[in-house]
Formats: sequence, structure tokens, C-alpha cells
Amino acid sequence: MASTPKSSLFLSTLFFFCVFMNTHLAFSLNTYIVQLHPQTKTSASYYPSKLDWHLSFLERTVSLQENGNSRFSSRLLYSYRSAIEGFAAVLSEPEVQLLRRMHDVITVRPDRRLEVHTTYSYKFLELDVQGVGAWSKSAFGRGTIIGILDTGVWPESPSFSDHGMPAPPKKWKGVCQEGQNFNASSCNKKLIGARFFIKGHHVANAPLESDVSPEYVSPRDSSGHGTHTSSTAGGSPVSMASVLGNGAGTAQGMAPGAHVAIYKVCWFNGCYSSDILAAMDVAIRDGVDVLSLSLGGFPIPFYDDTVAIGSFRAAAKGISVICAAGNNGPIKNSVANEAPWVTTVGASTLDRRFPAFVRMGNGRYLYGESMFPGNHFPRAERELEVVYITGGDMGSEFCLEGSLSRAQVSGKMVVCDRGVNGRAEKGEVVKKAGGVAMVLANTEINLEEDSVDAHVLPATLIGYSEAVQLKSYINSTKHPTAKLRFMGTVIGRSRAPSVARFSSRGPSLNNPLILKPDVIAPGVNIIAAWPQNLGPTGLLGDSRRVNFTVMSGTSMACPHVSGIAALIHSAHPDWSPAAVKSAIMTTADATDHYGKPIRDGNVPADHFSIGSGHINPSKAIDPGLIYDIKPDDYTTHLCSLGYTRSEIFTISHRNISCKEILRKTRGFSLNYPSISAIFNGNKTVKVISRTVTNVGAPNSIYSVEVRAPEQVRIIVKPRKLLFRRVHQTLSYKVYVIAKKGAKSGSTTQGELRWVHSSKTRYKVRSPITVSWTNKQRNN
Ligand SMILES: *[C@@H]1O[C@H](CO)[C@@H](O)[C@H](O)[C@H]1NC(C)=O
Ligand SMILES: *[C@@H]1O[C@H](CO)[C@@H](O)[C@H](O)[C@H]1NC(C)=O
Ligand SMILES: *[C@@H]1O[C@H](CO)[C@@H](O)[C@H](O)[C@H]1NC(C)=O
Ligand SMILES: *[C@@H]1O[C@H](CO)[C@@H](O)[C@H](O)[C@H]1NC(C)=O
Ligand SMILES: *[C@@H]1O[C@H](CO)[C@@H](O)[C@H](O)[C@H]1NC(C)=O
Repeated sequence: MASTPKSSLFLSTLFFFCVFMNTHLAFSLNTYIVQLHPQTKTSASYYPSKLDWHLSFLERTVSLQENGNSRFSSRLLYSYRSAIEGFAAVLSEPEVQLLRRMHDVITVRPDRRLEVHTTYSYKFLELDVQGVGAWSKSAFGRGTIIGILDTGVWPESPSFSDHGMPAPPKKWKGVCQEGQNFNASSCNKKLIGARFFIKGHHVANAPLESDVSPEYVSPRDSSGHGTHTSSTAGGSPVSMASVLGNGAGTAQGMAPGAHVAIYKVCWFNGCYSSDILAAMDVAIRDGVDVLSLSLGGFPIPFYDDTVAIGSFRAAAKGISVICAAGNNGPIKNSVANEAPWVTTVGASTLDRRFPAFVRMGNGRYLYGESMFPGNHFPRAERELEVVYITGGDMGSEFCLEGSLSRAQVSGKMVVCDRGVNGRAEKGEVVKKAGGVAMVLANTEINLEEDSVDAHVLPATLIGYSEAVQLKSYINSTKHPTAKLRFMGTVIGRSRAPSVARFSSRGPSLNNPLILKPDVIAPGVNIIAAWPQNLGPTGLLGDSRRVNFTVMSGTSMACPHVSGIAALIHSAHPDWSPAAVKSAIMTTADATDHYGKPIRDGNVPADHFSIGSGHINPSKAIDPGLIYDIKPDDYTTHLCSLGYTRSEIFTISHRNISCKEILRKTRGFSLNYPSISAIFNGNKTVKVISRTVTNVGAPNSIYSVEVRAPEQVRIIVKPRKLLFRRVHQTLSYKVYVIAKKGAKSGSTTQGELRWVHSSKTRYKVRSPITVSWTNKQRNN
């Protein structure tokens, strides 16, 4: 989910031949994911292998439709065993109907298309502080394996050098899959595995032979996104890294000692759920500790969401699944990948800026930001005629392909509105038409959001209020002029972190009882590794070559947390994924580097934009207390959400009676590290229980501190927790008592902290959100 230009993903296409494209059928064929009953008392026991069992369903369906003269086995795309029990196959509608009626078939779901949603960020997060930073406490993540589902990897990038890396741990069963420009020698002790999954994408995107392309049919990255995210999570240190001189420093991932395994599931037209599920299925068996998914779609119910289903099984096997929240902010309810067993990551800003001012002919300066062109570029700093071309129906205000004529822009500085096409693409359009500089102008949609790019010509990005000033200046004079002034890289002078405007917001559409996103992490202007055959913009016309480039998106935030999760796994190999996530959440910061509340634009951020707050790795390694969750607790939680027996079975493979469970677990609350209460009807009291495990020192005393949300009283019992031993668990209850007069639809927010008696040692924080609704839910 990068908010950088998608163009590099879409410009290329691939050429691939497959048997079923030749069959001539009355019905169109599409990919479906068929989920089967996982219990042993099924017909599976009659077959020599799971694969034979899966094929038997196709044999019975496909033969009936085609008089047996088609090779039914060619319809099978994937046979799944670990992420779900079942398979993906290419089927016609009547075949799907037949399958749905068969014994042992739970669901048949159409394939779904999802999208892909540093030199400096590790310093911002203080990972490298001697003795107290997270690295020194976790041996840089040594011994852990981060699996990344993305667009592949550029293995020759210096970020994947295995200098000083030990051999992979014994449990590792992955492979280095051969393919186009990729073979076993592409992997090493850093990049220990690489595979690709293309069948679902291929079925949905019949290749055009005329577009034979640079998309590698192999784990090799054609777009750059996967190289960027995987190096952010586990990249090796590279000194003197920069993007054309910008942001120079040592680049390295969050867990530079961790091993990296790449699962290429995203191709030029997106990432298909059948391919994603196949990758998760294999990754679980390969032995990864962390799965990082910088991809997603819109929120859909968990029982329909293959990522949610696959990650449930992964989490049950001890794997932390970390996902991007999506780039659909600031719209409410836009947060995706929001299952409670997943860590959902929003994006924040760094305090690193790349100022590039516009000096207008009237002498006034407008603040902008740019990565072009490094430190000096005298030609761009010349006074130029500036034009903003509106009117007509070509989209010239957006600088769309073919919308600018040479006569209008040659030798000039061109103003382009953001939106419609990619930011870097606009630069290419201006340059092709003879323009020599560009001002990218934010609109009401982006306001002051500042994702920079390494543009192909001198350019700067200005906020909305600056854009209004520039346009009115242009309008006010016959010969408007301007020049750009590039100031290089500036660190530490701005308030950070703050919420990235594009970062998707809660509350969760599917499950408002759990606060989402869980945390925010750096996701704006992140510098990380890049394929060595691409220019820094990823555009085909960009002939410059770099080892690093800048990208923005929750895609970039997600692997920061994946790397931190690897550090925690390394320091605490016996912790469950829920414990790892709890450590990340309860130690996250609600304040910025100035000690003030984290901001979202011009206002303090609410919990629906930052969740528990901004990740603080050195604290997350040593959180004091953790909130643990067992897989069964998630199924009970799904019961309390009102999910049906079959929906719960689809997600968890557990056949349970919610009635019974809810009777037995009266007053159940999922032991989540954040707290959310929803009032509906005339209820005025909610009792929420939590259990904490001591992972700090023996004989620790914690006292509770509460900042109650408006409109409620909060009572916590007991108010002190005394732990005699390490690993001891203690429970407490939170009584949320609503005052009269709260309006339906309103939300208030506060927090609860368990503070260690030494005060400075541990502060275990949970945000509290309280909402009033008139929707009826049975919780
Ligand atoms: C493997 O790939 C590398 C780089 O693409 C190439 O130099 C090498 O010859 C290949 N080796 C084999 C055995 O194909
Ligand atoms: C430009 O000026 C004209 C006339 O003064 C006015 O009608 C128009 O709204 C102005 N446009 C902008 C973008 O300021
Ligand atoms: C990229 O890294 C390689 C080493 O893998 C190095 O030889 C090359 O000079 C680097 N390129 C740039 C532009 O820094
Ligand atoms: C679940 O259990 C019930 C009662 O034991 C049974 O009737 C039902 O068929 C089972 N469902 C599945 C999907 O196994
Ligand atoms: C809430 O209370 C009002 C007045 O006491 C009553 O009329 C209404 O039916 C109650 N609603 C529910 C959902 O219990």
C-alpha cells in the first residue's frame, strides 16, 4: 500500500503460458478458493494424500460438466494444508454450484484482488542507542526469520548482503525457488528463501502477448515495493546510503540481524488472495517467525477475508502477522486487515524534512519539500516563467499524459495538481513536454501531506494553503515567475511523529469492539533499498540508477513493526504472537518528541488514528507486563460479536457452540492490550476484565493510573497489583459507568496505565475508547 506512484506496478506486464487458457468453454472460468472440512473424520482418509483428496473434488465436478474429456487436474492452482484446508481452482459457475453442495465443502469463495498498500528511521526510533536501545537487548534480531509477502526482492542489493550473518536456524525449511533471472545463488544467509506465487494473478489477467515485459516470472522484484519493504524490516547495514545525495547515512532495517524470506505474491495488476493464501500456507511450514503483509483491500468480514483466515492459523502456530492498515485515510472506518490476531499498522511522519522553497516573482516564499536534486542544482534555481494550465478536458491541471503542449510549457516551471496519476509520473509528463521544473500542488484532499519523490526534473511539493497562494499569484500578474530553492536534508526541527494524512482510520468496520489500528510507525518519506535496474521513481523512462529510494505509505510503516516483532521474538523466543503484540502496543508513545500529544494535521490525534500510539522499540523489548491471548479466546470473542457457528468454523476450524461458550464464559472480554467499550440501548455499566502476566522482575508492584474519557466514570479493581514471581498472572476489572446524556454516535477517549513502583521503570499503557450507538449488537 504505497502512496507513491502505482505506475511502476502497472506499466509492466508479463508473458506466461498456461494450459487452461486454451480450453473453449461456454462458461467463463474464474479462480475460487474452496475451503474443506479439516477434521480427520472426512473422506480425506480414503486418499493417499491431501493433494489426491483435493483433486477428487475437481474430478467429481469438472468431469460431470465436460464429459470427462478435460484434464481436471489442470484446473487446480494450489493445494493448501497449513493456512487453511482446501485448494484454489479455476471453475465455472455451474461447477461452483456443484461443489457448494458437496460433503466436506465449507465455503467456495471467489478470488479477490488486493493491492500493495532506511537510512534514518532506526535512529528516530532510537534502536541504536548503546546499552538501552532495542538492538543491544535483542542481538539485532539474530536467529529470527521474517517472511515478507510482497512484489519480490532485488537480491543483489547491498541491503541483502550476508556479511557477518550466521547460517539460518535449523527449523528453516524454505527454498530459493528458481525462475527468470533468479536461482539458488540469489539467496544467501541474509536472504534465506524466496518463492513466487502467480497462478491466481495469471488467471485473472490474461497476458497480452504484445506487452512482453520486464516483469520477472520469479521472486525477482520488478516494481521495487518488495525490495523496499523487506529491507526496511531486515536489511543489512549499508554505509553512505542516500537517494541522489538526500538523506545520506547508514541504511539498515529494523532487525539487521534477522534472516529474510521473500514470498512474491504481488504482480503488475495486484495481489490475488489465492496467491497470498498459498504463500502463507507455505511460509507457515517453512518456519518463519514473523509474516509482514504490506498489502490489503477494503475491510470485509473476517470469514470472507483470506488474509484474516490464513493469519489465524499462522498466529495459532506462533507466527506474528503484521499488516498495513491501508492508505484510505483520513476517512473513518477505512482501516483494513483489522482481525484481532493481526497487528494493524498505521503510518506516521519522521522529523526529517527536505525543504525546497518556491520563491515567487513577488518576493514571497512558499514552503515545499523535495528530494530533487540532492544538494545543488543551479539550473533549477533560475528564475523561470511559471504556468498553471487549467480548462479543457485533457486534465492539464493534473499534468496527465498528453495533456501539456510544448508551446505552453517549454522552458517553464509547471504547476500540477496532485491526484489522478502518480506524483512522479506528472514530473515525467512535464519533462517530456519540455518543461524544466515542476511544482506539485496539494489539493483539499491532501492538505499539507508531504510525501516526497526523487523526481526526474527539479520539483517541489507544496501544501494546499501554499497552492492557493501560488495560484492566486499566477492569476494576479501577466508574467508570473518563480524559482526553486533546495535546502537539502534537515533533521529534528519539526514536530514528529504525527499521523500521516493517508493512514487509514478506525473504528474497525467489522469489529468496533477492538480498537484499530493497533499502532503507528514511520511511513512517510522512508528511504530503503531499491532494484538496481530501476530509476528512483520506478518510471520506465527514468534512466538514473540508485540502490535506495524514498517511498511513503502504510506499506512502509508495516515492515518497521515486523522488524521490531523479530527483535522481540529474538529476545523472548517463548512469547506468543499476542504477547509480542502486547509488548509493542503497551509501550507505544502517545506523545511526540516534544512530549506533546501526537498530532493529526492541526489537531491532537485520536485513538482511531494512532491506536495505542507510536512504536517505541527499546521499551517494547522489555514491557514489564503483557496481555496474552490464546487462540480459543479469539473464537469466544467471535461468538460475542455474534458470528454464526459456520462463520466461526470457517475462520478458526473450531466447531463450537457459541451458546454454550457464552454461558460458560459469562462476561468474557478478549484480553486485548487496548480497551474499547460500546454502550447501546439503556445500559449504563460495562465490566471489562483483563489479565496481565509479569515479564519484568519478581516482587513488582504496579498501581493503576486512569485518565477517564469524558461522559464516563472508570473504576479499576484492584488498584494495585503485587507480583511475587516472574510469569505470574493477575487479573483486574474495569468498570465503565456511563453518565447520563451521552449522544448516540459519540465517542470519548482516555487511558489506563499500570505504573511500576519504581515509577521510571515500566508504564504499561492501554488507550480506552467509549462509544455510544443505537445499533443492536449482542455483546
Ligand atoms: C544464477 O544467476 C546468476 C545471476 O543471475 C548468474 O550469474 C548465474 O550464472 C546463475 N547460475 C546458474 C547455475 O544458472
Ligand atoms: C483569477 O482571477 C479571475 C479574475 O480576477 C477570477 O475570476 C478567478 O477566480 C481567479 N482564479 C484563481 C484560481 O484565483
Ligand atoms: C550500489 O551498490 C553496489 C554494491 O552492491 C555498488 O557497487 C554501487 O556502486 C552502488 N550504486 C550506487 C549508485 O551507489
Ligand atoms: C459441528 O458440530 C455439530 C454438532 O456436534 C454438527 O451437527 C455439525 O455438523 C458440525 N459442523 C461441522 C462443520 O463440522
Ligand atoms: C430505554 O429506556 C426507555 C425509558 O426508560 C424505554 O422507553 C426504552 O424502551 C428503553 N430501551 C431499551 C432498548 O431498553
